[in-house]
Amino acid sequence: MRTLIKNGRVVTAVDDYVADIFVDGEVVTTIGKSLEMEADVVIDASNKLVIPGGIDPHTHMELPFGGTYSSDDFFTGTRAAAHGGTTTIIDFAVQTKGESMTAGVDAWHKKAEGKTCIDYGFHLITTDFEDGSEKEMWRLIDEGISSFKLFMAYPGVFLADDATIFRAMSAAGQRGGLVCMHAENGIVINEIIKRFLADGRTAPKYHALTRPTIAEAEGVHRAIAIAEMAESPVYIVHLSCTDALNQVRQARDRGIPAFAETCPQYLFHSIEDYGDDFEGAKYVMTPPLREKHNHAELWKGLKMDDLQVISTDHCPFCMKEQKELGVGDFSKIPNGAPGVENRMALIYNGGVVENRISLNRFVELTSTAAAKMFGLFPKKGTIAVGSDADIVIFDPNGETEFGVEHEHMNVDYSSYEGWKVKGKVETVLSRGRVVIDNGEHTGKAGDGKFLKRGECVRI
Ligand code: URP
Ligand code: ZN
Ligand code: ZN
Repeated sequence: MRTLIKNGRVVTAVDDYVADIFVDGEVVTTIGKSLEMEADVVIDASNKLVIPGGIDPHTHMELPFGGTYSSDDFFTGTRAAAHGGTTTIIDFAVQTKGESMTAGVDAWHKKAEGKTCIDYGFHLITTDFEDGSEKEMWRLIDEGISSFKLFMAYPGVFLADDATIFRAMSAAGQRGGLVCMHAENGIVINEIIKRFLADGRTAPKYHALTRPTIAEAEGVHRAIAIAEMAESPVYIVHLSCTDALNQVRQARDRGIPAFAETCPQYLFHSIEDYGDDFEGAKYVMTPPLREKHNHAELWKGLKMDDLQVISTDHCPFCMKEQKELGVGDFSKIPNGAPGVENRMALIYNGGVVENRISLNRFVELTSTAAAKMFGLFPKKGTIAVGSDADIVIFDPNGETEFGVEHEHMNVDYSSYEGWKVKGKVETVLSRGRVVIDNGEHTGKAGDGKFLKRGECVRI
């Protein structure tokens, strides 16, 4: 299949020019003015932006959590991602406590194989890491699983103690691997939760009040300190607030290889969204939504490169029968929210249209930086000769309407119900094939390939 994209405004993390792009098979082979190659498909991209497909390096499809599973599987979740202009996800496989790391990765391969509509990779949630585990980790790195998430939260489930974190970071750092850290002091948080429940404070909003920003800042500080002692880089996931960001800033100012992502929910929602009733369960995620004043600092962090990536932490649970598990006890509400489909348009509008970041920085934050951070660049994350033809044709004058009736995620609510934003994903190519054509999914389950990633942190 040969595809010619004509007259689009090609924007990467560094470029911005009008050109034609010729795609032969799965890769871009020529970029130039007035190309006249024979093609099977010609797409007129006049007055449209032509950008690299989005990379969302933080999703949870079918994640077991709190007695249930996140409601998107690898088919529904990746189809929704494609609708939103994302052509690569990196999902979190889970090493169940007591099992090997390899068993966790194998289980995720089984979940994903033959189901995905876009390309995908895995990080591994690592719960056990003993002396001697490094050989298994290094083998996984050789197999393309080059990043590992460790948790300072969720005691008894995912929490790893500082010794485990130190061992994992030391091993990862020696072989181009990267530890992604869920940085919140879960031990103290659990004590605060016990007090709230004993006082009868059980509504969803108390989820936020039991997880103060200082618990996140302490986690970030400790994660960076352990990484420094382990002589490894560290990547903080789903950073939500100024207090935590300041820890990253201070480390980066000292030249420490500390990196972080934030997510749209922390840029657009606030603690006020919990309200007083059970509807607030829609926003029960960790870290929780914060006070509004954090938004401006997070945007500043994105602009100044103290935050490098915007991911979604897509982890949907339906209100019915899933979030409802926590009626009368917020600590039993499964943690997470949908978002994989919303990210690109939200950040284009909130970032570029509202003049907080440049168009190039938008591409960098939603695609290029994740490709470099997680060993996918330049195959993914840019538009260049030889790169995979993962391309989004984006109408800057179009409009995206959010809401459950417009979205494709397998969940019974939208975090952005009724929102309208400027900019619209029009056509999406995944390795040269059109998978979204004017809002219609034209691909199928199994289109996506597993991505064997290389060394992390080429940023
Ligand atoms: O609430 C969240 N974030 N759920 C997903 C699991 C995690 O910690 O990323
Ligand atoms: Zn997490
Ligand atoms: Zn997550």
